[in-house]
Amino acid sequence: MSERADSTQPAQPKESWVARWTTLEDIERTLIDKPSSGLEAWARTTAGVVVMLLALQFVTGLLLGFYYVPSTESAHTTVSYIEKVVPAGSWIRSLHHHGSQWLTLALVLHLAQMFWRATYRRRPVGWMASVILLGLIFAAGATGYSLPWDARAFFGTRVTEGIAGGLPLVGNAARSWLLGGSQISPLTLARFFALHALIIPAIILTVLAARLFVFRERALVSAAEERRLEKWMHRQVVRNAIAAGVVFIALALYSWKSFAPLGPPADTAAPGYLPRPGGQFLWLFQMLKYLPGRAASLIAVALPSLILFGLAILPFLKKPLNRVMVHPRRNIGAALFSLAFLLVISLTIIAYVDDSSNPLTRAQLRRQEAEETAFRNSPFIPLRARTSESVSIEPQGTNNPNSNDGAKTPDGSPSPSPQVGVSPIASTNNTGAPPESYIKHCSACHGTRGQGAPMMPKLLGVASKPRRTVEDIIGLLNDPLAYGIEPPMKSYADKLTEAEKREMAEWVAGLK
Ligand code: HEC
Repeated sequence: MSERADSTQPAQPKESWVARWTTLEDIERTLIDKPSSGLEAWARTTAGVVVMLLALQFVTGLLLGFYYVPSTESAHTTVSYIEKVVPAGSWIRSLHHHGSQWLTLALVLHLAQMFWRATYRRRPVGWMASVILLGLIFAAGATGYSLPWDARAFFGTRVTEGIAGGLPLVGNAARSWLLGGSQISPLTLARFFALHALIIPAIILTVLAARLFVFRERALVSAAEERRLEKWMHRQVVRNAIAAGVVFIALALYSWKSFAPLGPPADTAAPGYLPRPGGQFLWLFQMLKYLPGRAASLIAVALPSLILFGLAILPFLKKPLNRVMVHPRRNIGAALFSLAFLLVISLTIIAYVDDSSNPLTRAQLRRQEAEETAFRNSPFIPLRARTSESVSIEPQGTNNPNSNDGAKTPDGSPSPSPQVGVSPIASTNNTGAPPESYIKHCSACHGTRGQGAPMMPKLLGVASKPRRTVEDIIGLLNDPLAYGIEPPMKSYADKLTEAEKREMAEWVAGLK
């Protein structure tokens, strides 16, 4: 700027209002890099595509936020409402769903393109911001997957929970922090929602703000050079806009044709449900199949973190490693990229082949798909109708006199909380009184009628979960760990007779 005042060129355009009133030119100046032309200039439009897709995630996410309620009671109903009732709701949700996968891909291409041009040398901040962004986009995808609370979401959450719980040392802490307690509960969904819709977007915006407003990665140049760069930059902005526009149209059409998945609510999932994660996580999911128990968790977390961390610190690797290697950054970067590429592409392909080559898996997946299609084509059922036919029992110790007047709230407001339901007696399931041995051994934790206790899981509807048939429950009582059930629930193998176990399991499986 100061140089401009000194120059006496008459052709100098007078300061535009953009320069006078906005910081746009400063931002442009932080973004200008060495000009390139032809194919390279077009390759660089991944930047514009990433910005467009990111903005689209924010906009569609906010729109979904107008309807979505993050509670285990309402989440699925509100997402169905978006899908079935809200005009263009299905399309907006599709854009958000597919957009997250396209964004992951665009960011990877962006990084590959920057690596190819050795951008990490000149622009370490821009490079690191992109790597961090990729990590955050993965985190957003993983937490977002739970939010619709259908079978897919529920089992996705189970997988995440399992990975967190299996981590060495921090496993239990990580698991209970993630779940908000000892098991998946209403708190879990609230927590995933807070991460997905508040914390991760806030960090993304912070990273972007730092990238645009805090760091400058270019030396000051002469006024003539500055004008040449600006001219190039303006052409480059047009190229970016074209690329982003084309990708947007493609995504919009794709989302119009192909729906974001939504199945029946989580609690109606039949036993044997096969969880499948979103496309960007398929490779990780496949890898978990090969790894035994705890190693799986460790590798599932450590490997992606190491790759991302290695890429993020690439700009700083030159000095410390110069003695050991000729081109440390180029070699390590290339190794990380090829490792990630090989891992992701091959495992993703294997995951698809695996699913389609096993007839049992294929049949189950087709059944799940058919269920989702049937659910999609069925009319929307409001929450009140859904809950009044399957009322849950009052939590222990709430002696609310108003709890006996049916599905209406005390003041008759139209949104009854499912907890304010029919009295415990009236809503009792078809099973009779609990067996004595249940009262003696189990009710302290699971409640006299399976309704649960603070911090302890309820057993209502437990039979609709996978691996919870009568036989399974007997097996679970003998060896809880084999069924993924952890302390404080302990083995009852030799505390109960076989007859008691069976009677108890039959009663528990009948709890609705
Ligand atoms: C000390 C408290 C405690 C006692 C006593 C107890 N449980 Fe549990 N139970 C738990 C906890 C906690 C879990 C969840 C553990 C997990 O998910 O890792 C659980 C899980 C279960 C599950 C699986 C629930 C699901 O959602 O899949 C069943 C079934 C079950 N218990 C049945 C029983 C029966 C039957 C008895 C009596 C013989 C009993 N429990 C006694 C604490 C207890």
